[in-house]
Amino acid sequence: MRVDQAQFMEQGYLILRNVIPAEQLDAIRQSYEVLVERQKAVWARERQPDDPPGGVWETHQQPRLSHVEELVDRSTANAVELWLHENTLGVAQQLIRAPELAVTEMMLMCNPVHDHPGGTGWHRDFQPATQAPVVGLTEDLRANGPGYVQWNIPLYDDNVLWVVPGSHLRVNTEAEERQMAEDPQAPLPGGIPVPLNAGDGVVYTNLIWHWGSNYSTRLRRTIHGGHASIAPPLYAHIFSPVWDQQLRFVECLPAATRQTLERMAQLLSDQRDLLESLFRAMLDKDGDRFLRELAALRPGEEGRMVCLVMLSKVVKRMRLVSQPEVRRLPRAERAKIVVHRDMLDFDENLAGRFSHEEVERIWQRFAVLDAKLQADSEQHVSWSRSGKPSRYIVNEMPANFGVAEFVASWNDRQGAS
Ligand SMILES: [Fe+2]
Repeated sequence: MRVDQAQFMEQGYLILRNVIPAEQLDAIRQSYEVLVERQKAVWARERQPDDPPGGVWETHQQPRLSHVEELVDRSTANAVELWLHENTLGVAQQLIRAPELAVTEMMLMCNPVHDHPGGTGWHRDFQPATQAPVVGLTEDLRANGPGYVQWNIPLYDDNVLWVVPGSHLRVNTEAEERQMAEDPQAPLPGGIPVPLNAGDGVVYTNLIWHWGSNYSTRLRRTIHGGHASIAPPLYAHIFSPVWDQQLRFVECLPAATRQTLERMAQLLSDQRDLLESLFRAMLDKDGDRFLRELAALRPGEEGRMVCLVMLSKVVKRMRLVSQPEVRRLPRAERAKIVVHRDMLDFDENLAGRFSHEEVERIWQRFAVLDAKLQADSEQHVSWSRSGKPSRYIVNEMPANFGVAEFVASWNDRQGAS
C-alpha cells in the first residue's frame, strides 16, 4: 500500500481503505474475539469488591485490551501479525523517516456495556509535564516528520474518532481554548468525524486534536496501537514500546513473526544502551562525547532541544524508580507510583544501570533546563482533565537556551555536582 507522506504531514492523519485485506477480516475478528474472552476472564478475576461480576468489562467507558501480546497464542497469532503487515508497518515506514521501526502498543478498544455519551472529551495525547512544550513538539514534527504514528483499525464500522485536521502543527487557537472552556465534549471548530468501515484504518499523529466522541453500546472492536522509530536517528518522542522486555510471548508465534519481534526487541535494547552512554557522558561532564551521542538521536540541529527536554523527563522518571525505598516495593506497588504504568520496565532497566546517587547527579545536569521549562504558577492545559496540574509551560520552549547553553549549564551552581 502506497501512501502520501506530504498529505499526512498536512492533515495530521490519513484514512486508508482495507488495511485489513477483505479475505483476512473474518479470521482476525475471530482471533480478537478469543482474546476478548480471555481478557474478560482476567477482569472478572481481578474485580474489586464493589464491582459487578465482570469487573472492568462492565464498569469502564471503553474496555480496552491494553496488552494483546499477553493474551495471544499460536492460534491467534494473526492478531499480532497484523502489526507487522505491509499495510501497517509498511505504511508507517513511509511516514516515519527512520531506518528501523517497532510496533509500540498492541491494543483493542471495545464498546462499553452501558452508554457513555461524550466519550473522552477532546484532547491531545501529551502533557507538558511529561513530554515537552507544544511549540517544541510541533516544530520537531514539521522539521523531522513523525517519530511515532498511531492507528485505529476497526473490525466493525466505527465513527467514534473525530479530529481537527492540521492542528498537529500549531498551538491552540483562541476559538479552541474558548470552546474547551465551555464544553470539551462539543465539536471543536473545524473538527470532523473519521468514518471508517470494517477493516479500514486511520493513521495519525497524536499531537492532533482528537476525540473519542461517543462510547455507545454498539459493537466496537477497534485495534489501537502504533509504530515508532527505534534506531538512530531516533526521532520518537515515546522512547519505548511496552512489550519488548516481557518477550516470552513470542515463543508461541510462527518463526518469521518471532524473529521480527526479537529483532525489534534487540534494537530497543541497543536504544537503552545509547541512552545510558549519553547519560554517562553527562555524568562525566564530557561535552564532546555527549554531543556525539545526542547527534545519534537527532542528527540535525532542529528538534535537538525538544529531544533534550524529552530526555529530562526520562531522567525524572528514573529518579522516581531509583529511590531505595521504591526499589524495595513489590512490582504491583511500583507500577502504581510511576508516571506511566507501562513504562515501568523501561524506566527500571535504565535506572538500574546507575546508582541512585548517579541518577541524582544526572538529574542535576538537567536542573537549569528543567527550571526554564517551568513558570512561577500552575499552568492550565486545556486539553487534559486527567493530567495533574503542574507549572510546566504549555506552549513555549525556553528562549535563548540551546544545546551549547545546556552543556555550559552543567557548571552552573544548580547543575554542578
Ligand atoms: Fe488520545
